[in-house]
Order: sequence, then C-alpha cells, then structure tokens
Amino acid sequence: MYHALTFREHGDPLAVLQYDHPYDNPPQQPPLVDEEPSQQQQRRTTRTSGTTVVEFLAAPWNPADAMVVAGTYPSALLLSSNNIGRTMIAGSEGWGRVVQANASSSSYLAVGDYVVPGRPGLGTMRSHYHYNTADEQEHKDEQLFIKLDRGAELYTKFGPFAPAPLFQTGGTAWRLLHDFVDNNNHNNMRNNNSNNTDNSNNNMDKNPIRPGETILQNAGNSAVGYLVSQIASYLGGRPVSLVRRGRRNPAQNDQLAHELMTHGKNELVVFEEDLVADSTTTLAQILADQGLEPPRLAINAVGGRSAQHLLSSLAAGGTMVTYGGMSKQPISVATYPLLFHDVRLVGYWQSRWMAHGSTHEQRRHLMNQLVDLVLDGHISLPPTKVFRLESFVEALRWDQSEETIRCKVVFDCREK
Ligand SMILES: NC(=O)c1ccc[n+]([C@@H]2O[C@H](COP(=O)([O-])OP(=O)(O)OC[C@H]3O[C@@H](n4cnc5c(N)ncnc54)[C@H](OP(=O)(O)O)[C@@H]3O)[C@@H](O)[C@H]2O)c1
Repeated sequence: MYHALTFREHGDPLAVLQYDHPYDNPPQQPPLVDEEPSQQQQRRTTRTSGTTVVEFLAAPWNPADAMVVAGTYPSALLLSSNNIGRTMIAGSEGWGRVVQANASSSSYLAVGDYVVPGRPGLGTMRSHYHYNTADEQEHKDEQLFIKLDRGAELYTKFGPFAPAPLFQTGGTAWRLLHDFVDNNNHNNMRNNNSNNTDNSNNNMDKNPIRPGETILQNAGNSAVGYLVSQIASYLGGRPVSLVRRGRRNPAQNDQLAHELMTHGKNELVVFEEDLVADSTTTLAQILADQGLEPPRLAINAVGGRSAQHLLSSLAAGGTMVTYGGMSKQPISVATYPLLFHDVRLVGYWQSRWMAHGSTHEQRRHLMNQLVDLVLDGHISLPPTKVFRLESFVEALRWDQSEETIRCKVVFDCREK
C-alpha cells in the first residue's frame, strides 16, 4: 500500500495536511516546469508502457514546505510539479532508491541506485514516485532525479534517515559560500554565478574562502546553518554563528553552544539576546575582541534586528546574502554602511538555481560532492528527529516547539 502526505487546499499545515493511506494514485504525472494543464492532459493521452519507480526513504520537513502548504511560497517552480488533480503532495527534499527501472528507455537509472530530486517541488513525502516512458522522454529522468554515486555507501553508514537533509539544505549551504565572494579580488563578486549554466564544474570547485577569514551567519543552529559553518571551516574559514536563546533554558543553551562549537565547527557562538541586553557591546566589537577580522560575507536567514547585527559587522565592500526570513521581520538598512562602506545586499534561492541556474551535470556534481564530504569525514550530518508520515501532527507540533534544542524533523517515507 502506498502512502503520502497530501493537501487539497492551502492553509495551516496542521489544518490542511492529510495522511493518505492507501494513496493509490500512481503513476503520478510530473509536469514540466511551468507546463500548462492542457499540455499535461496531452501527455497523459500519449502515455506508453514502461515505468520507473523510486521508493522514497526519508524527507525532511523544511520551513519552505510549510510555506508551500500555506500558499505563501512562490509557486511557479513548485506546485506545478506536484498537482494531481486537486491533490498535492508535500515535500521538496529527500532521498530514495530505484526499485523498478524502465529497461526499454535510455534511463541512466538502474534498480538499486540511490537518488535525490533533481528539481524542486517533487512531492517527496510519499512512499513511491512513479513515472513512465512518456514522462521520461519529455522530462528525461535526469531532470527528475540525480543519481548518488556513493548512495549505497551513504545508506550503509548512516541508514535511511540521517542523510535526508543533506541535499537541498547542504546544496544551499555550499552555494551560499561559493557564489558571493571571490578569493582573488579584494572586492566581492559583483555578479554571482548562480545563473552560470556552462557545463564546467570548475567555478563550483574553486575555494572562494581565504584562509582564516570570518564567515558570519545567523540561525547557526538551523540545518542550513549547521552545514554552512562546517563547510566554511572545511574551506579554511572561521565561522561565527549568531543564534537566539529563545525559550530554551540556560542549560539547553549551553549545550547548544557546545554543539555548535564542536560538531558545528564554529569559532564563536553569540546569542542575540546578549547583544540586545548590552547595547554598548556590538557584534563587530565582539569579533574584534576575539581576533576575528570583519567578515566579507554574512549569511542571513532571519531578517529584522538579527540581520542588522550582521550588516553592521560587515567589512567595507562586504556582502550580506539573505536566503531566509524566519523572524518575518523586514531588513532595515542604515544609509551609513551602504554609502560609506559600500556593503551589498543580495538574495539567494536554491530552487531557482536547481530549476534554471544549473545544468544536470552541475547539480549532480554538487550532490555527489556533499556525499563525499560526509563519507570522507569532513562534515557531519545535521541532527534529525524521525517521525513516521502518519505521525505528522506530532512531528509538526514538535517542530514548532521552541523549548527544545532544534533537530530537523525527518519523515520516514517507507511503507509499513
Ligand atoms: N533560499 C533558499 O534557497 C533556502 C534553502 C533552504 C532553506 N532556506 C531558508 O533558510 C532558513 C533555515 O532553513 P532550515 O531548513 O535550515 O531551518 P531549520 O533547520 O528548520 O531551523 C530554523 C531556524 O530558524 C530559527 N528561527 C525560527 N523561528 C525564528 C524566529 N521567529 N526568529 C528568529 N529565528 C527563528 C531557528 O532558531 P530556534 O532553534 O531558536 O527556533 C532555527 O535556527 C529558512 O528560512 C528556510 O526557508 C532557504
């Protein structure tokens, strides 16, 4: 019996998500990006035999998934992939295993291959993903799935769940560190390469981080942040994470700081509330006191006052790249750093890079590089807490609780 986490209308995920079991609606029709409904219908009628089936192992519950369900996420790249009649399947990230391969096609996938979505919004919170020859001819399965060269090794070492947040999350971390600063020029890159679709992976591999330079971020305990600091450290930088104390108790926050300094490979962890409580001590001053140079790159997932702390600590000519807005507060920018320090504010969206800003070869290279980093012991996987799909209410409530040390919620997508 198949199962899936579905929604038929937008709203609060706890109100509109539904565990469908049996979910007996295969084969799904993954339309092309921006495909019109009439084109989808035409493809349905030209369907021929021959089906590839991917069994999803695990899918993380990311902040963007909640926004997609709520209808507040830009949908052009996402919902069209996932809209079967009026039923949509939640989830964009995850990984799976090919359990049936279409032998008659030119598929590069074989039974037993481990794969991750090659495009955003695939609807990963399901036990199985089917597509057939007609889909394959038009979509090419390499557009839908990326094969992990060392997937079996990853599974053997870490099991089905822990690797689930490595791919889009880790891919975002990697690109945030690579697309916005340049190792050679004093100035940061004025044109980031997120739309670079030449087939070469050279730019992707160039280390943009200067030895010992400070890399500053907020939400350092998020899954992306956890990978940013580890990859920054691996590249030779000195990561500094700003986090909030929030509603955790002091002992939990001590433990969190310890985790971020050890597994997270941070040089320094600063609690936002301490900056607010003592407004004479700025983040820039704290960095200087620790012998950390002003950062060329600050990575913002929060907005509001937290982003202001990052901005005011940037080196002249520095860049703050925003990839999330967890506080839901806007970013206010004083004239002074813009005018006299020539700081630059940019945004980054991994879905755009996946859908339009990269070739399959580049996406595959990035995913396999992340797997290598983990398997070769250079970075560790973000902490996770596993729930079964049918326990999604418990999972989402746990995720919303601000009183625990955060772990990424990961759904076990396998059938019982
Ligand atoms: N642009 C892209 O391509 C892209 C890709 C991936 C993720 N993202 C975004 O990146 C952010 C992090 O994603 P993730 O999957 O790594 O998240 P995550 O693991 O779920 O962690 C969420 C983070 O946000 C913090 N947070 C939650 N509510 C907050 C609030 N009201 N004010 C300040 N901080 C708050 C949490 O801190 P506490 O633990 O203290 O609650 C935690 O650090 C999200 O905004 C997500 O949408 C963007």
